[in-house]
Amino acid sequence: MARIFSGIQPSGIPTLGNYLGAIRNWVPLQDEHECLWCVVDLHAITVWQEPAALARQTREMAAVLLACGIDPARHVLFVQSHVRAHAQLAWIFNCVARLGWLNRMTQFKDKAGKDREAVSAGLYVYPNLMAADILAYHATKVPVGDDQRQHLELANDIAQKFNHDYDAAFFPPIEPLILGPAARVMSLRDGTKKMSKSDPSDQSRINLNDDADTIALKIRRAKTDADPLPSEPEGLANRPEARNLVGIYAALTSTTPSAVLAEHGGKGFGAFKPLLADLLVSVLDPIARETDRLLADPAEIDATLRAGAARARAIADPIVAETERLVGFLPPR
Ligand code: TYM
Repeated sequence: MARIFSGIQPSGIPTLGNYLGAIRNWVPLQDEHECLWCVVDLHAITVWQEPAALARQTREMAAVLLACGIDPARHVLFVQSHVRAHAQLAWIFNCVARLGWLNRMTQFKDKAGKDREAVSAGLYVYPNLMAADILAYHATKVPVGDDQRQHLELANDIAQKFNHDYDAAFFPPIEPLILGPAARVMSLRDGTKKMSKSDPSDQSRINLNDDADTIALKIRRAKTDADPLPSEPEGLANRPEARNLVGIYAALTSTTPSAVLAEHGGKGFGAFKPLLADLLVSVLDPIARETDRLLADPAEIDATLRAGAARARAIADPIVAETERLVGFLPPR
């Protein structure tokens, strides 16, 4: 059974992008794989996180994942900082990855913006930590949204260079799983920008805890063009906002954009938007309720995460120990 790893940052309330690009696709993968699902707090602190908020958001993220159908009995749900192997392997990978590779990372360029001198060194080496997350478990499949594609290519480059430098067929190749019609959910205000937890405008995104009225309002105000929906996906070319809303609708109903357009082609957004808002509420409301129910018992969530970390350590520690041996570190003890 192939081993899967994926992670999500507890840097805010998860968005519809996180849900459709990642979490929703994770759930069915659990039927046929051994999965590790990680709340990546080490990644989150690459930008400033207020400590109390980080702790709260880490628990909330775990609750959301459980509410969406992540199964901690059959799979491993845990917090990144609870398993030291991630940081240990990341240091070794900092010494394998080349600056030239990191300089090409578009997400770093986007996040650092014009103020490159002032961002943390952690933000720069962030992809090396991601490679460590995956390779510490010898995971071979990684379900992510489209924005993580370049980071996974870098992880493969690191694995290959490590194997070459240390003359060992040790780290396996990683296959990105970029799934579904909403692998890149765009901002509701600008169809050319990714929907993001960190966008300053709350109107740009649907948060998984938005109530029905907020969802309806955000969808009503979502930027669109004046034309009706086409009957075929080709008609969405150069219409990024229309393409985004159709993709969201398709992902929520587990169909394709073609099927959505076959049914709704010819409708204007005045008719389509209320249908989309109702659909969103019907999918997100049960998740929000279940998240709240789980958060009423934080000790239970913490116990689940502790048990997950113990299982994660049991897999990662021997792999990191072997990595250290290959590198030439003396055994501790
Ligand atoms: P993060 O926390 O930004 O996002 C978590 C997951 O959600 C996906 N995603 C989106 N998908 C579609 N449309 C969007 N607008 C959108 N926004 C986010 C992301 O692609 C991701 O799958 N570096 C990662 C977390 C990570 C990780 C890993 C992932 C750390 N280590 C190892 C895989 C393997 C991140 O910041 O995700």
